[in-house]
Parts: sequence; C-alpha cells; structure tokens
Amino acid sequence: MKKIAGNPYLIKEDNDILIDSISLSNLLGRSKTPFFIFLENKIRDNVRTLTRVFKSLFDNVQVFYSFKANFLPEICKIIHSEGIGAELVGLPELKLALEIGFPPEKIIIGGPYLTKELIEMSVDKGVKEIIVYNIKYLKQIDYIAKKLNKIQNICLRIRSSKFESKLGIQLTNKSLIELVSFVKNYKNIKVTTILSHYTTQMNSLEQFNKNVKTLANAFHLLSGQGLNPMNINLGGGFPEATIMSEKQLEKLALNIKRQLVNYNLDRKNIYLEPGRYFVGDSGLIIAKIVNKTDNRWIFLDIGNHICPKFAKCSLRFYNASQINSPHKYKTSIGGIIPTDQDVLAKDYFFTKEFNEEEIVLITNVGAYTLTFSNRFPYGLPNIFLVKNKDVEQIFNTVIDHDFSLV
Ligand SMILES: Cc1ncc(COP(=O)(O)O)c(C=O)c1O
Repeated sequence: MKKIAGNPYLIKEDNDILIDSISLSNLLGRSKTPFFIFLENKIRDNVRTLTRVFKSLFDNVQVFYSFKANFLPEICKIIHSEGIGAELVGLPELKLALEIGFPPEKIIIGGPYLTKELIEMSVDKGVKEIIVYNIKYLKQIDYIAKKLNKIQNICLRIRSSKFESKLGIQLTNKSLIELVSFVKNYKNIKVTTILSHYTTQMNSLEQFNKNVKTLANAFHLLSGQGLNPMNINLGGGFPEATIMSEKQLEKLALNIKRQLVNYNLDRKNIYLEPGRYFVGDSGLIIAKIVNKTDNRWIFLDIGNHICPKFAKCSLRFYNASQINSPHKYKTSIGGIIPTDQDVLAKDYFFTKEFNEEEIVLITNVGAYTLTFSNRFPYGLPNIFLVKNKDVEQIFNTVIDHDFSLV
C-alpha cells in the first residue's frame, strides 16, 4: 500500500488510485473533468489531531475554524459536528454558521471591514466576540450594544511584526490613549481578547515565536494602561496536516507553551483559528491534460481561476493515468486561462511520457482555492464529498449555479 502525497486516504492500488475506499476510475465515471473531491475522514482526522495535541498541553484552549479557508456548507457541518467553534469575517458566513447550528457563544467574527448589519446581527445573536482591526469601530459597536441592552465582548487584532503588515491595530502612544479613553467611556463593550495572526503556511517555529512575541508586547503595553484582556488568540497559520506531521505539531505546541510561560501569559485562555490545517489536504482536483508541448509543458483543463496562486497551497501533481511510472522528469504545468501567467507549476517532477486526455491528480487544494477562485468565463467544477465508500455530490454544475455565499 503506497500513500500518495503522504495522505493515508490516497493509496496506489494496481493501476488505479484508491480515494478513501472508492477508486478514482469509479469517480471518473460520475463526472467530466475538472472536478473537486473532499475527504470527510481526513477533515475529521485533522480536527482531532490538532485538538488532541493542543488539549494535551493546554487545559484552557478553544478552537475556532476559519470559515474563509473553505466555506462550503458540507465542510463547515463536518467541522461543527466535531465540536469546533467558528471564526468568521462577514455576514454571509455568520448566517451560514447559525443555520448549521454553531452556537453564538462559539462564534467569533470580524475583519478589516465591519458593516452595520454585521455588527447588529452579531450583537443581537450574542456572538462570543467581535474582532476589531481598527478601533474606530468600537464606538459603533458600543452604540449598537447599548441599543440592544447588551455588553459585547471585543477582541483586538494587533498588527503583527511581519514586514509590511497592514492588518490590525498598531499600538502607538496615540492609539493607546485613544483606546483607553474608548474603553473608559463606552460602557457596552468589554475588551476580552487580543489576537495576532502572523501569516498562513507557517513552517518554522520562529514565525510562531514572533507571533507570540507580538502578543506579549501588546499585552505589556495594554496592561500598562490598566487593560488586562483575559484571552490570547494566536490565529491560524498551520500548514496542511500532511505537510506538518503530528510530531512536528506537538513540538510546535510545546514551543508555544514555553513561550507563553516565558512571557507569563500561560494562565490566559488560548484561542486558535486554524483554517488550512483542517481542510487543506482534504481537497483534491481531478483534471485532464488538454495540450502539451515539445519542451515539456502540459496544459490542464483547470487554471488559476479555480486553483489560484493566492491560495498558497502546497500543490502536488500526479499523472493518475500512469500512477506507477516514476515521477522524476521536470515538467511545467500550465492552466486553461488564455494568458502566459496561468502557470500552476514550473519544473515539477512528473512522468517521462505524458499524453493528452491523461488524468492529473492535484492534492492539497482544500483550503482557499474556492475562496480565491474567480469567475473566468469557464464552467465551474463539480464537487464531491467522499467518506469511506460513500460519494455525495455537494456541488452540481447542472443544478447549482455558484458556490458563493450570499
Ligand atoms: C485572522 C486570521 N485567523 C485565521 C486565519 C486562518 O489561517 P490558516 O488557514 O492559515 O490557518 C486567517 C487567514 O488568513 C486569518 O487572517
């Protein structure tokens, strides 16, 4: 049994690929290419691994799935059924999370742009926290909370120390004075948490350390002004689970714990907002070679409109029609968009021979691909959810017109 891309749900079997307990040839009989497959069991494994690792070290950790990584209702339902909370950026996600049954006390919501409608619904439903990237929103949240006779908990997103980061609040003398005055005067808000999310796809302990340091500095500055948030939100940023092994994750969690002890922050409640780790390696694209050149370029019937660079996936490509052939010949892979910029991979190790109509399996496409996808005027892909031998079509291009949230 040979795993593909380190994924235990992708196994080479004879000349076929077993996707969980169903063969790729079976799935190819259900749809034209390109199409997506999501692996329910992989999502559940990932959720359980991350929670197990962090709960073994912290007795005060809470996990919120970052919906923006993959907001398909069926995916969010799986994560909900594992008892995880939700981290949301907008009203469509809030409506979806509530509809699925995420309890408001397990929802944190916010982003760089907060509409009046979003604030009203969040306060009215009693979400756990509204995340504020700009302190100008505190006035409006207080006003709405007062009108609704509520006290709204607030999480402040602190700008991380990453070069050129523009997101979040920069704690300067001026902003601190302003913040202190807001907190004193606005009686219907309460600052409970500070958040720092450094970046996505963090592969080094150093990046996680920098993130904790940002929070420690922020906490120091805030407590100097008499503000003492009870919770620390470390954001997300973990790579796909097949890229970061459980052992590495344990090492990372232990390192975070040590950092928090060093900074005297270990008694706080710890929040995490993983997106990619839960869903990244649960997603596959099945595509077809539609063209090739003499200088080892192949072109697929998919491109950056569905598998965008912005998604920062750890893409892996396999010639599924020759799955047992060595993949050790440098090949470049282009997409279907009529621009030279539509490159999926350059000098990627692929089979020696390749032909039009052959099937290509792309792994690690479960996070941010649909989020960042755009409407280039081609058809959208069908989407299937696989669990054991069961296959459910969760997006059907004939019936469903779009997977966007409204
Ligand atoms: C504030 C915040 N939290 C969590 C996430 C999820 O990140 P990831 O999918 O890398 O875990 C993001 C992603 O951009 C984010 O901006």
